[in-house]
Amino acid sequence: MALTADPPTEANSAAANLIEATVTPKRRGTLLVVDDEDGARQSLRMVFKDDYDLLMAEDGPTAIKLAQDHPIDVAVLDIRMAGMSGIEVLERLRYVNPDIEAIMITAYETTDTIRQALRLRASDYINKPFEIATIRAAVSQAMQRRTLESEIHSSAEKIQQLLAELQNQRIEEQIAKTRGDIYASIIHDINGPLTVICGFVQVLNRRFNQASRLDVADLEFIRERLNIIGRQTSNCIEISRRYLGFLRRQKDETARVGVNQMLNDLNQLVRVHPSLQDNEFGIQPLAEDIGVKINGTDLIQILLNLAVNGFQCAPFSHRVDIGGEVLREPLDLKTFKDGPQDRLLNVESFNNTAPLVKLWVRDNGPGIPPEVLPKIFQPYFTTKGPRQGTGLGLNIVQRLIKEGKGALHVHTRPGEGTMFTIYLLGANLAK
Ligand SMILES: Nc1ncnc2c1ncn2[C@@H]1O[C@H](COP(=O)(O)OP(=O)(O)OP(=O)(O)O)[C@@H](O)[C@H]1O
Ligand SMILES: [Mg+2]
Repeated sequence: MALTADPPTEANSAAANLIEATVTPKRRGTLLVVDDEDGARQSLRMVFKDDYDLLMAEDGPTAIKLAQDHPIDVAVLDIRMAGMSGIEVLERLRYVNPDIEAIMITAYETTDTIRQALRLRASDYINKPFEIATIRAAVSQAMQRRTLESEIHSSAEKIQQLLAELQNQRIEEQIAKTRGDIYASIIHDINGPLTVICGFVQVLNRRFNQASRLDVADLEFIRERLNIIGRQTSNCIEISRRYLGFLRRQKDETARVGVNQMLNDLNQLVRVHPSLQDNEFGIQPLAEDIGVKINGTDLIQILLNLAVNGFQCAPFSHRVDIGGEVLREPLDLKTFKDGPQDRLLNVESFNNTAPLVKLWVRDNGPGIPPEVLPKIFQPYFTTKGPRQGTGLGLNIVQRLIKEGKGALHVHTRPGEGTMFTIYLLGANLAK
């Protein structure tokens, strides 16, 4: 084996180390030398001792043991060794660490041996006798490949980590946004009953101030109003309880309430609602009563939101009607086509099982323009003035219907009016 080049001078290697330390403060590479000739091992030790952490092995089993105990970057293997050949050693090393860069030292090898080395992904072959510069360059290139590989590896790991953090961040943001939406929804929904409560308290105040003594008629008047105030207060409590349930991700126990009872409650609520103004309102009970698998407050909230939208859709006096029927067959979903005048929502979560309760809220207002229709269920979308609408009403309606596994259809005709229809799971009324 010919060894000609001098080892690096102290000054050179100190400068190189300084640059290395300031640019990339990383560990020195580890080089494993496997050769059964003592002279060859010592020569290689002289060449590389200043540049790398060296591990020397005189035979295959020692090399494999060293690889098991240390992380090795590059191995220089003599092919022709007594006992285990360099090819066999490489084969076993691959089991211990598949990423080791291997440089094979060859002398008059057969093509078969070379082919085997190739199969084992040896990265370089150096013929004996070799120049020091040649082996130095080969080891240095192999080390660089290893560094590059491990940098790519750790960059990929960092990217994975970053992606995971980003994903967590997104989830956090989504949760925060959902919370914000839920709080906004509580305020939106409580606003209705609070307006009614406020109105009645004012009426009562006026009655108290005008009467010097309260007679029986006064007492009756007060009792009725207090009843309504009481009911609206319970509504506020129910609404906040429902949304707090959303926050805690709880599902409310579904109450089976008679639809006609709820329509009756809704009627009373709408009759005193400020948005009624001088519009006409009609509510038709179901011909046959049935239970419905949705919380009673939720259903009233859905229908009230739709009715209020109906009243507020035009500045001129017009009509809003509520009615419904029981369907004994599932819906034929193929007959619903989204288009400029139609939208069907919540199809994916809809439990299309008979009996279904179909309820509609219809107005003869101006209808919804085709360019507005796709947006009306988006949270915060409103065509009303900034102080008049939050744009949350229909989003809440859609969410509540989804919770109840129902579907929602809107059909509108510009100039003629709009009809919102909800489909909910019917249930036998408890006797
Ligand atoms: N019956 C209807 N006729 C015409 N347009 C409607 C009707 N219902 C809803 N819209 C349109 O859908 C939009 C969104 O309704 P949504 O109930 O979500 O919010 P909003 O009524 O504007 O605000 P809020 O519900 O807070 O009062 C309305 O601004 C309106 O443009
Ligand atoms: Mg609304």
